[in-house]
Amino acid sequence: MDARIAVLVSGSGSNLQALLEDPGIRPYVVLVLSDRPGVRALERAERAGVEALVVDPTGHEDRESYSRAVAETLAERNVDTIVSAGFMRILGTEVLKRWHGRILNVHPALLPSFPGMRGVSDALAHGVKITGVTVHFVDEEVDHGPIVTQEAVEILPDDTWDTLEERIHAAEHRQLPRAVRALLDGRIHVDGRSVTIEGE
Ligand code: GRF
Repeated sequence: MDARIAVLVSGSGSNLQALLEDPGIRPYVVLVLSDRPGVRALERAERAGVEALVVDPTGHEDRESYSRAVAETLAERNVDTIVSAGFMRILGTEVLKRWHGRILNVHPALLPSFPGMRGVSDALAHGVKITGVTVHFVDEEVDHGPIVTQEAVEILPDDTWDTLEERIHAAEHRQLPRAVRALLDGRIHVDGRSVTIEGE
């Protein structure tokens, strides 16, 4: 197996950290790309000795133009696998076409419930008793592609955003490496929306 993974980030990078701490994944992470300077995820990458850079959206007139800049950066490094781990931007056609079937995203809710930027607070506000995390392939629609793994997280009566988010994060740190390992091993089979992981 060989792979060249780019992890896309925008913030704290705890999911990036979970990937970097997985010995089956770390050797293949060649790039951490952020849309924002100064974020903790970039520090984590540097500390792990992984190339870390910012592709700034300023100056790009639309999503497609920004996406072309991202695609160029990834292509220059021969990236074949993309993990969107807290990346707060929607990827455009250039990236989606070129890396079709090779882009995973982690979402802090049980999709198709609570898509969008506020998965944790939307679930709390709605009063659901169970939420969770989803790792899915990225397609043209937001938080929509075929689902690879999910884990349920119970919402407790006295949960706040902070306490719930902590348990959501813990679940993400289990599910994202699991899905990435399966993708790297070629154990993921997609049939329409139905995804199976060989050996599980
Ligand atoms: C995660 O909860 C992810 O699901 C969401 O943004 C958060 C990023 O956290 N899209 P981190 O930067 O990996 O700590």
